[in-house]
Amino acid sequence: MSAPESRPLLFTPLTIRSVTLPNRVVISPMVQYHAKDGFANDFHLVHLGGFARGRAGLVFSEGTAVEARGRVTELDTGIWDDAHIAPFRRVVDFIHGEGAKAAMQLAHAGRKGATQPAPEGNGPLNAQDFAKGRKAWEVVGPTTEPVAPGWLIPRQLSVAEIGDIVTAFAIGAKRADAAGFDICEVHGAHGYLIASFLSPISNTRNDAYGGDRAGRMRIALEITRAVRAAWPQHKPLFFRVSALDGADGWNLDDTVALSQALKECGVDVVDCSSGGLTGTATAAPIPRYPGFQVPFASAVRNQGGVKSMAVGLILDGRQAEAVLRDGHADLIAVGRQALYDPFWALHAAQELGCDPGFAMWPAEYGWWLEKRSKTLVLPKAAE
Ligand SMILES: Cc1cc2nc3c(=O)[nH]c(=O)nc-3n(C[C@H](O)[C@H](O)[C@H](O)COP(=O)(O)O)c2cc1C
Repeated sequence: MSAPESRPLLFTPLTIRSVTLPNRVVISPMVQYHAKDGFANDFHLVHLGGFARGRAGLVFSEGTAVEARGRVTELDTGIWDDAHIAPFRRVVDFIHGEGAKAAMQLAHAGRKGATQPAPEGNGPLNAQDFAKGRKAWEVVGPTTEPVAPGWLIPRQLSVAEIGDIVTAFAIGAKRADAAGFDICEVHGAHGYLIASFLSPISNTRNDAYGGDRAGRMRIALEITRAVRAAWPQHKPLFFRVSALDGADGWNLDDTVALSQALKECGVDVVDCSSGGLTGTATAAPIPRYPGFQVPFASAVRNQGGVKSMAVGLILDGRQAEAVLRDGHADLIAVGRQALYDPFWALHAAQELGCDPGFAMWPAEYGWWLEKRSKTLVLPKAAE
């Protein structure tokens, strides 16, 4: 094992409030379309538990709806009922048993609710979906403007209804705490409810929740304050932003200002994604390069003075380590590359040379791998 001073930052613990993450590898929230009536089940146990077996320091739930109508699809997990707590508790207990921490992403889809699961198209439900038994429901937004032509027309939320949603986030946070989650994140990205209030493209209201940037930020900050009050003080709170909304309405300066306001409300880490206002965030057919969103995390951290999490095409340990060493972010979230390799963290540790004896691995794997590494003789490559 390397000396502590040469230990990669990626595998150096990080304490935020009273929670110590064993390393800085985070499994990004990823919806899986396996829930029924919002309940987590064996699929979520195995799927999320696998990342904890793979020694990520923090494993995120998928975006989990604080209201039934706030689901993106009818197959998303939810936390709108006390009955949702126990199945999540089972998942969290397993994650803890593997030495990792667990985070819940609290979400409300807003006008992007009632859509197709990604593998079925990721767009609005159509006649074939209804024929298959998929169901739509009333969706809500800042105005009656849909995401794009062909998407559901949302009902405009009244001020009183906005208050109810703020409360739903706070109650969701209490339930996440009861389920044992260590960290909770407010999903303010990808064009969902909060993001649709932030951007002037989707928020053309002229009341206290629209207008200038302060008005458009109001719902985000009210939700954050309510969640912070409901969520135990010793546990960290994250907030996911779309640093750019993807439609030229909300920019990086706005994100830095929002991050500073979030910090004042008690947010510990801003999770820096982007896009999604007028379509899907991850399926957009635009060219992307490794680390394309790292500059957003860097701006939040270095201009905004708030801890940040970088996400987006971070593919290997060396790349992740460089992001941390160069001071661009405090945490590294891995999404699709963890689907490709659920043991991403362990392989990154091998790549960075900080686990030569397989000591980080689950003992019942590592013991064998270490012996194998000592005895393995590879045939010489053919000349
Ligand atoms: C299958 C899948 C599901 C996703 N679900 C969510 C989600 O529930 N909440 C969220 O904020 N982002 C979601 N995302 C976005 C990821 O968290 C991540 O930000 C994105 O995939 C970029 O990181 P990557 O290049 O490492 O995959 C999802 C992405 C994928 C691939």
